[in-house]
Amino acid sequence: MIIERHEDVTEAALRVMEQTADPRLREIMVALVRHLHAFVREVQLSEAEFRAATAVLAELGHLTTERHNEIVLMAGSLGVSSLVCLLNNGDGGATETSQSLLGPFWRMHSPRVENGGSIVRSATPGPAMLVELRVQDRAGRPIAGAEVDIWHPSPVGLYENQDPRQADMNLRGKFTTDAEGRIRFRSVKPAGYPIPTGGVVGRLLEAQGRHPFRPAHIHALIFKEGFKTLTSQVYADDDPRLDSDVQFGVTRTLIGRFVRHDEPRPADPALQAPWYTLDYTFTMEPGEATRPRPPIK
Ligand SMILES: [Fe+2]
Repeated sequence: MIIERHEDVTEAALRVMEQTADPRLREIMVALVRHLHAFVREVQLSEAEFRAATAVLAELGHLTTERHNEIVLMAGSLGVSSLVCLLNNGDGGATETSQSLLGPFWRMHSPRVENGGSIVRSATPGPAMLVELRVQDRAGRPIAGAEVDIWHPSPVGLYENQDPRQADMNLRGKFTTDAEGRIRFRSVKPAGYPIPTGGVVGRLLEAQGRHPFRPAHIHALIFKEGFKTLTSQVYADDDPRLDSDVQFGVTRTLIGRFVRHDEPRPADPALQAPWYTLDYTFTMEPGEATRPRPPIK
């Protein structure tokens, strides 16, 4: 059609989108164009702003490499990653879910650790943490024989692959749940950490007066046939930034009680106070057991 008024552009573009053969792609493209045009009208986007926006999108792509993904970082910083997670789990967002974001630091082939073992592989100063995790189905029955990958940052907020002072695979381990659906391990209490701020996302945060931190957390990836693979994060309830996570990942159900102990532990007199315990339960939903593509090697 020949365009006569600005409304015609929207109509013409929508008509073309409606010719998309694949029904799902058609649904997505029609809605995308509808919302995109409405957005341009709502903010009365200027020509200079439009040029700036296309430059920002190009920069997001240029900054994305094998080791860093600025696009995923931006999606998280806009709350989109969390929204997609919440809408696709817990009965389409109707109930709470143990699902959370994978994040950029999962590595495949974490070393196997026996239940009760330690995942501290090189001297890592910080308070000791004794963790007991339970995996259950939606009826509360234990899931035995589930494979549980654990990884978390150090007490100064660095993953081993970011920190030359830590041994390879430090604070990472692969466990199997016992008959009660439990795993136990020993580690050191993680700290929160800033996301990378050297690119577009950093400039956005600065413009909005936002801090770049994620609250302290432990990652888990739980795999068991018959269940949707569970990607989760458990957040420390004593972190001051629990309610201002830069990636909007903290939900009520993902907050774990990191209990501080200042007394000696009779079973382990060498343990220095303060030390912490964490006891947390994950719920798996029925679905497909698949392993995600590791974001890093
Ligand atoms: Fe993380």
